[in-house]
Amino acid sequence: MQINSICVIGLGYIGLPTASTFATHGVYVTGVDNNLEVVKSLQSGKVHIFEPGLNEVVQEAIQSGNFHVSQKTVAADAFIIAVPTPFYDGKKADMRFVDSAAESIVPVLRKGNLVVLESTSPPLTTRERVLPILERSGLKAGQDFLLAYSPERVLPGKIMDELIHNSRVIGGIDQASAEAGRDLYRTFVEGEIFTTDSTTSEMIKLMENTYRDINIAIANEFSRLADRFGVDVWEAISIANKHPRVKILNPGPGVGGHCISVDPWFFVEAAPDISPLINTARNVNDGQPDFVISLVKRALGDLSSKKIAVLGLAFKPDVDDLRESPAVEVAEKLHKAGAHVTACEPYKPDFQLEGVTVKASLEEAVQSADAVMFLVGHTQFKKLKPSELQNYTTARIIIDCVDALDWEKIENRQPWLEAGFTVYRLGDSKNQ
Ligand SMILES: NC(=O)c1ccc[n+]([C@@H]2O[C@H](COP(=O)([O-])OP(=O)(O)OC[C@H]3O[C@@H](n4cnc5c(N)ncnc54)[C@H](O)[C@@H]3O)[C@@H](O)[C@H]2O)c1
Repeated sequence: MQINSICVIGLGYIGLPTASTFATHGVYVTGVDNNLEVVKSLQSGKVHIFEPGLNEVVQEAIQSGNFHVSQKTVAADAFIIAVPTPFYDGKKADMRFVDSAAESIVPVLRKGNLVVLESTSPPLTTRERVLPILERSGLKAGQDFLLAYSPERVLPGKIMDELIHNSRVIGGIDQASAEAGRDLYRTFVEGEIFTTDSTTSEMIKLMENTYRDINIAIANEFSRLADRFGVDVWEAISIANKHPRVKILNPGPGVGGHCISVDPWFFVEAAPDISPLINTARNVNDGQPDFVISLVKRALGDLSSKKIAVLGLAFKPDVDDLRESPAVEVAEKLHKAGAHVTACEPYKPDFQLEGVTVKASLEEAVQSADAVMFLVGHTQFKKLKPSELQNYTTARIIIDCVDALDWEKIENRQPWLEAGFTVYRLGDSKNQ
């Protein structure tokens, strides 16, 4: 199938890298976003999100003349839907963005078109949700147009590389749809491309993130057990992982982002009677911020009026994405417990959080603190030296929830102790 033009709907962390990469590989791309600010920003050549290498590819795409941005879905050979799929309060998938994106295709859908859904979605979404919407055009799926699901499995921070080099799965509502999808992504994908049916590919994406969520949940539960039994969980994990068949992940303040902390709920919502493990793991990870608060209380006693500097609000290191971030939740809980919270988030210095003062620089954030908390292992935080922190603040209590100080190495530990810092660590009651 010859595809010369694509319309990519949704220009966020997934849609924009995808659209601009297609454009730099010779396909004419219209990027569509219903947020006027996003459209205006891109039309003026300004990329509205941070992802390493993205700006360069977008600039190249614009200069190639192959990339245009619009607020309206336009006719094309193929359509890619990359809109958000968050959840409602009751942990139910919010599919309104997918619905409205599919609806926007209906008036411009033509015979021979291919439509690919990329948004992470509950099982059967492509067949039972998107297909009926598209058929409102009067065209028949499988007969007049092709329809596939291809999950995006890139890692924030490495999206531009992984988009090209990761393997990819394309699930069609029929064989022809899967093959057309494979040919489309072959434009730039250098990894292997696997074809299957649409529901299998929907499940693959959810299974991958659920698998990871459950593995982080067990690490988080180990951190609580280690704390109870006077053990350093980081030491225990590193020794356990020397076993050839053991690979325990690191614990932390919780699980965030709008993938791993969200996607497992799609299974639980769709089949609650047969997914108790997934449900429990989600609750364990969602409960981890409370465990962090109990650690802070042990370190500082009553939190009212305590001045706490929080380092990092993003959901993981070296990204600007704060969605569902456990660090944000911890900061909010500290504030609710009466603490005066100052946060430093270098990737989102303008972020506003009720009750929390966000500072652009680490120096400002820690200045008048009683304690300094590492909640995200941003590279610049991990490079912090005791002598620097000593100069920035009189606080001598550190609460490290992400092993930012790499405590296991004696050469790392010693300078902090010699500088007079008392270090509390998540999952380590051995050294406290
Ligand atoms: N961000 C990631 O790392 C990642 C990784 C894998 C999969 N995913 C999945 O990819 C999908 C997209 O995620 P994202 O991070 O790119 O979201 P995002 O919020 O960064 O971007 C989505 C964009 O879609 C736009 N939009 C929403 N509804 C629209 C509509 N009807 N028409 C046009 N534009 C619309 C929004 O304005 C926004 O700019 C989600 O399902 C997500 O779970 C994301």
